[in-house]
Amino acid sequence: MADQEYLDRVFTMEVGRCTEAAAIAASRMIGRGDKEGADQEAVNALRQAFNKLDMKGTVVIGEGERDEAPMLYIGEEVGTGNGPDIDIALDPLEGTTLTAKAMANALAVVAMAKGGTLLHAPDVYMQKIAVGPGYPDGVVDLDAPTEDNIAALAKEKGVPTSEITLCVLDRDRHEAIIAAARKLDARVFLIPDGDVAGVFHTTESHTGIDMYVGSGGAPEGVLAAAALRCVGGQMQGRLLFRNDDERARAERAGIRDLDRKYALRDLASGDVIFAATGVTNGTMLDGVKWEKDFVHTHTVVMRSKTKTVRYIRARTDRERIG
Ligand code: FBP
Repeated sequence: MADQEYLDRVFTMEVGRCTEAAAIAASRMIGRGDKEGADQEAVNALRQAFNKLDMKGTVVIGEGERDEAPMLYIGEEVGTGNGPDIDIALDPLEGTTLTAKAMANALAVVAMAKGGTLLHAPDVYMQKIAVGPGYPDGVVDLDAPTEDNIAALAKEKGVPTSEITLCVLDRDRHEAIIAAARKLDARVFLIPDGDVAGVFHTTESHTGIDMYVGSGGAPEGVLAAAALRCVGGQMQGRLLFRNDDERARAERAGIRDLDRKYALRDLASGDVIFAATGVTNGTMLDGVKWEKDFVHTHTVVMRSKTKTVRYIRARTDRERIG
């Protein structure tokens, strides 16, 4: 087996170990009303787990810029320093408020790829649209009216528009999208937070969700794109800026065309490894469960190269966790 292939296979499982560690740490804070504290627990654990891996890892999507994030900041190097050069996109706790309020679908998420293949998205908003696999290319378009996208999807699916379901973050800024869906009698599945899971839901038929649409974090957009690269589906995104400071962030991240419409492979190209572990129970993964002697976790790991999707249920001895 070629060295690179061996490394990819080993890393796929190792990345799952890292998200497990982050999710277990964050789960101690479920329902405690402290979203920053929950995030910090996840960050500490993820960093410790990364530093056990033989790699020259660079965080390209992280907890923020160096001056605002003490750990896992953009540009931070992680790993032992021996091994392959790897770009890492991470969200140690995707759904900080969900965790603080013990609500569904909080995840620990990591994507890894060879250097230069993940968009170095700054921490700004991104306009997003995504559908699952099985549709012709361009069936929906970021710049088309929502009504047109719903109608196009319904036509391809061979159902009336009333049988199309959109997943949308429950925010006032999405009023027009929701109104358009109502006009066509389409269903809207409103989520309080967590749009990595929101995008991923389009790929899982049991969720009943056909399309994700709306704006959310740009880093989450790249993580969701990495996941779609592994399971199929389409996604487009465009960065949204509220002020000059945000534009400057993008420029510092090396982005030249601030209005660019990104296709899935512009967000995450090359071979990608994606892993997520449930923190709270969710549609995609079960949350962490603590028992007297063991902690149970539920993780998905996948690779774009092989499209293998592995769900891993792990039981860890509590004595090893402390
Ligand atoms: P956090 O985990 O950082 O709290 O992010 C949760 C989240 O819902 C993301 O999934 C989403 O992309 C973003 O926040 C949306 O931002 P906003 O809450 O500002 O609409």
